[in-house]
Amino acid sequence: MLVAANWKMFKTRAETGAFCDAFEPPAGVDVVVCPPFTSLDVAVASGLAVYAQNVHWAQEGAFTGEVSAPMLLDLGVVGAIVGHSERRQYFGETDETVARRIVAALGAGLRVIACVGESEEEREAGQTELVLRLQVEAIADAAGAHPGLVLAYEPIWAIGTGRTATPELAAEAHAFVKGILDVPVLYGGSVKPDNAAELLGRDAVDGALVGGASLEVDSFEAICRAAIPS
Ligand code: PGA
Repeated sequence: MLVAANWKMFKTRAETGAFCDAFEPPAGVDVVVCPPFTSLDVAVASGLAVYAQNVHWAQEGAFTGEVSAPMLLDLGVVGAIVGHSERRQYFGETDETVARRIVAALGAGLRVIACVGESEEEREAGQTELVLRLQVEAIADAAGAHPGLVLAYEPIWAIGTGRTATPELAAEAHAFVKGILDVPVLYGGSVKPDNAAELLGRDAVDGALVGGASLEVDSFEAICRAAIPS
């Protein structure tokens, strides 16, 4: 089981340090935190496993505003989220650029959480499987079932909305995704302490990518504890 805290554009360096001082990852579950770039070094210094929220495909170059895999490794960062729906929605990330980022990150030795998921309109139009197939096939064609790669199934309508996929619906989507690319699949989208155990109890659910509920130590610790196999 892997539980990842995606802090998005939250937490200053001082706030990151305070979280890391107070947070005790429970034994029996892999836990990673994904702070904004400016707080990565503070989180690394705490001894926690740290992922970035994005990574560029080139090692260096004229790519203003981007950060490369060797730069992250230089900081002690061990992985990166790639293709989060907020990157796809607001920053023009495509299946092609997601694939390029994943290949470069894995090649450099970073682990990767690659995100896929359908929008509400796509689900209502009966296109969930079509959308997931296109997104996952792009990743599978580029990277295959690399040992450093996990996917995160995050239905866009469940992110930050308080609307969670039912465990049945999540399990169905995870099984579909694994049928295309057989790697561990995390669930993301309004995971909270009170729904984590039920979601993580499903066979096809290999962990969680947690946004809002990862910002507070107590709620993130509770979700991590729910992931400990019984
Ligand atoms: P949320 O975010 O837990 O706040 O819904 C999840 C994510 O975007 O990774």
